[in-house]
Amino acid sequence: MTSQNLSGDRLPQERRVVTEIPGPRSRELQERRAAAVAPGVGSVLPVYVTDAGGGVLVDADGNSLIDLGSGIAVTSVGNANPRVAARVKEQADRFTHTCFMVAPYESYVAVCENLNRITPGEHEKRSILVNSGAEAVENAVKIARYATGRQAVVVFDHGYHGRTLLTMTLTAKNMPYKQGFGPYAPEVYRMPLAYPFRWPTGPENCGPEAAAQAIDQITKQIGASNVAAVLVEPIQGEGGFIEPAAGFLPAIAEFCRAHGILFIADEVQTGFARTGDMFACEHEGVVPDLVATAKGIAGGLPLAGVTGRADIMDKVHGGGLGGTYGGNPLACEAALAVLEEIEEGKLTERARRIGEIMLPRLRALAAKHEAIGDVRGRGAMIAIELVRPGTKDPDPELTAEIARRCHAQGVLVLTAGTYGNVLRFLPPLVIPEHLLNEGLDVIEEAFAG
Ligand SMILES: Cc1ncc(COP(=O)(O)O)c(C=O)c1O
Repeated sequence: MTSQNLSGDRLPQERRVVTEIPGPRSRELQERRAAAVAPGVGSVLPVYVTDAGGGVLVDADGNSLIDLGSGIAVTSVGNANPRVAARVKEQADRFTHTCFMVAPYESYVAVCENLNRITPGEHEKRSILVNSGAEAVENAVKIARYATGRQAVVVFDHGYHGRTLLTMTLTAKNMPYKQGFGPYAPEVYRMPLAYPFRWPTGPENCGPEAAAQAIDQITKQIGASNVAAVLVEPIQGEGGFIEPAAGFLPAIAEFCRAHGILFIADEVQTGFARTGDMFACEHEGVVPDLVATAKGIAGGLPLAGVTGRADIMDKVHGGGLGGTYGGNPLACEAALAVLEEIEEGKLTERARRIGEIMLPRLRALAAKHEAIGDVRGRGAMIAIELVRPGTKDPDPELTAEIARRCHAQGVLVLTAGTYGNVLRFLPPLVIPEHLLNEGLDVIEEAFAG
């Protein structure tokens, strides 16, 4: 990885802190926001962004922050990536919307062809395009229910799938996602996940034991023949970058195959080169029946997809799927540009390189600080889990404090986890190496106090 600015040298690739963070202009905007925007929508760090590219976000006060979040795994090819921006501008001058359900256009078809080509498995596939990760997951469940004629959907502890009624129900964590928003959708069942760090008999037993428990519970509590789909994130995102222990996903996929249950991979956060493979399922050779994608697909334009086995996708009657904006032409052009950037730029390799830089440095940090209980992740999806020294008790307060220190020094990090005790790192895959290392320096200093 070079240190050159892969976003076209438009912005200096540097950390520059010229005011307090947030600075006076951002604080002014924050006041205006408080009077206009409902407080239910939060912001991790209320610096108001005026420009972004490569590995930096520039705010209204002229601070240049190192971006270790990519807008939650979205701007993998860099913010305002020149190829994406050019394609969107060109499309905006031609037409901005027809509604694919009214009068179609080629770019929608081309995005689906690409999704069919790059998602795991050599079988014949079809795709649909929608607007958000939640909408993709929700459609995958609809399709699975239709195709199987069954209703039950199995999800896992610590899972996150979105904020609509169904996807909120599929999500594990109550606060802030579910509290007060019930009643929830029926026929959703939650199973234990193979969480190596917290598995009672140790990480080495975790994969097979967790799979056996989940399969036993599905069989005894729901009945396999009632289950339409098992829905799983191949690495959990909001749940705290939990990589299911080896063997867990293949065992669940095998069980599904044996019982006519569809295996849905929620690759919304893990997809498009983020984990060092194009899709995280590839790591253990798992081939899902249906895949939900979003986030990294279109450089920040709202786009998401469901891709699945043709025999499943072809079952749903005409008009049964869709939506006014799904597969908007600007978003489709952006997605085509993103895919070219990922493939030509070999961004899976870049993601792996990011992991190779981050993991050893974070492991060395963990060796010095007992508060770091676990270092995990793959590629450019890396996290540390913070605990009270000598225990596995989660330490959300320290997690928030470390994030605050990083933010004050101009490094944007995100937190996650059921217990709020995970610091997660999702740098743009094009981040220059010097910025990534500087970001890690700041994280190390934050632990030093
Ligand atoms: C794994 C996963 N699924 C679904 C979603 C929901 O996506 P969206 O916020 O685009 O609706 C997210 C968002 O964080 C996610 O990480």
